Amino acid sequence: MLSNRVNNITPSMTLGISTKVKELSRAGIEVLNLSIGEPDFFTPDGAKDSAIEAIHSNKTKYDAATGVLELRQAICKKLEKENSISYRPEEIVVSSGAKHSITNTLMAITNPGDEVIVPIPYWVSYPEMVKLTEGVPVFVETEFENNFKLKPQELRNAITDKTKAIFITNPSNPTGAVYTKDELKALADICVQHGIYIIADEIYERMCYLDEFTSIASLSEEIKEITITINGLSKSVSMTGWRVGYTASRADIAKGMGSIQGHLVSHPSTISQYAAIGGLTNCDDDIAHMKSVYKQRKDQAIEWIEAIEGLSVVKPDGAFYIFINIGPLRDKIDSKDLSLTVCNRLLDEYKVAFVPGVAFGHDDFIRMSYATDLDTIKEGIERLKNLVDTL
Ligand SMILES: Cc1ncc(COP(=O)(O)O)c(C=O)c1O
Repeated sequence: MLSNRVNNITPSMTLGISTKVKELSRAGIEVLNLSIGEPDFFTPDGAKDSAIEAIHSNKTKYDAATGVLELRQAICKKLEKENSISYRPEEIVVSSGAKHSITNTLMAITNPGDEVIVPIPYWVSYPEMVKLTEGVPVFVETEFENNFKLKPQELRNAITDKTKAIFITNPSNPTGAVYTKDELKALADICVQHGIYIIADEIYERMCYLDEFTSIASLSEEIKEITITINGLSKSVSMTGWRVGYTASRADIAKGMGSIQGHLVSHPSTISQYAAIGGLTNCDDDIAHMKSVYKQRKDQAIEWIEAIEGLSVVKPDGAFYIFINIGPLRDKIDSKDLSLTVCNRLLDEYKVAFVPGVAFGHDDFIRMSYATDLDTIKEGIERLKNLVDTL
């Protein structure tokens, strides 16, 4: 018999779709994959060379549980330069990907039964991570008209005396929406007032297509005190497989996470950490290039999607996703699970993979990724149009 912990969680739907796509291609059936959550660029040489050098200079031993000092120093410099927040290396914890950073955070700040606010639509893993750490996810509806960004009153209505923390994902996965400075300040002030931790997931921060991106922790000293910033190199430097993420937080929280991590995994791979130093210090041109390619694809894809009768999108200003509103198809498709039905039909009949919005808590939407080449995006959207045309 397995533990309640295992029985209470559901497997990741996004990973499930990737597996199905791989199975189909192994069977010789070519599928256009618009479901991918990882950059389609190779890791830049600036990061790879750094890892190779680390191997040859034998930097392959155990190191500090919270991460290699040189990397934590490089992260502090990055946060100061790009996000205008000042942190010391002892306030940084390097982990095996941002996923791991989020789990460490939850383990360090929540007790069993504590509530964690999860605005809908949410990144698939948040509710399961909260459940795994014995917290209670509290879902909050947001409005399409506001690009699904949480409003102060929606937050206030969700707060109880058990609320411990809130997730704010900026830019958002699955919508790509980006909060303005004022919007963030309004939410953060409520959190300060109620003593609620902000888990600020800024993993897509380098893919913000607006002139300005605001890190929540930069808003004020008291907001910084309650904020745990989550970031990493998976998306920004195309280093998904290297597994390097990090948190920036108050020293006591960082110390707690360091103890937890020390017992569970010691620390992320030392070689990957050296690669990350290269990623943070030697790859600015590569990052700028990737961002400009994503932006071109986004603008083009939105034009193609909006040309399909009845479909609309949440305005994406960041990340590499488009959240497509398929709600109007409800009249034409007889299904309780609209997004799942549409994605299954797209995959089975049209050989194109999207992610059903229900995976993110919103069944009227499907998520498309533009982390793939423009030809694939064009053909994939054409196949979506073909399905809509038959209805
Ligand atoms: C919003 C968000 N946070 C965190 C992660 C996890 O990133 P990592 O690969 O660094 O664990 C992802 C990856 O898809 C994500 O979309």
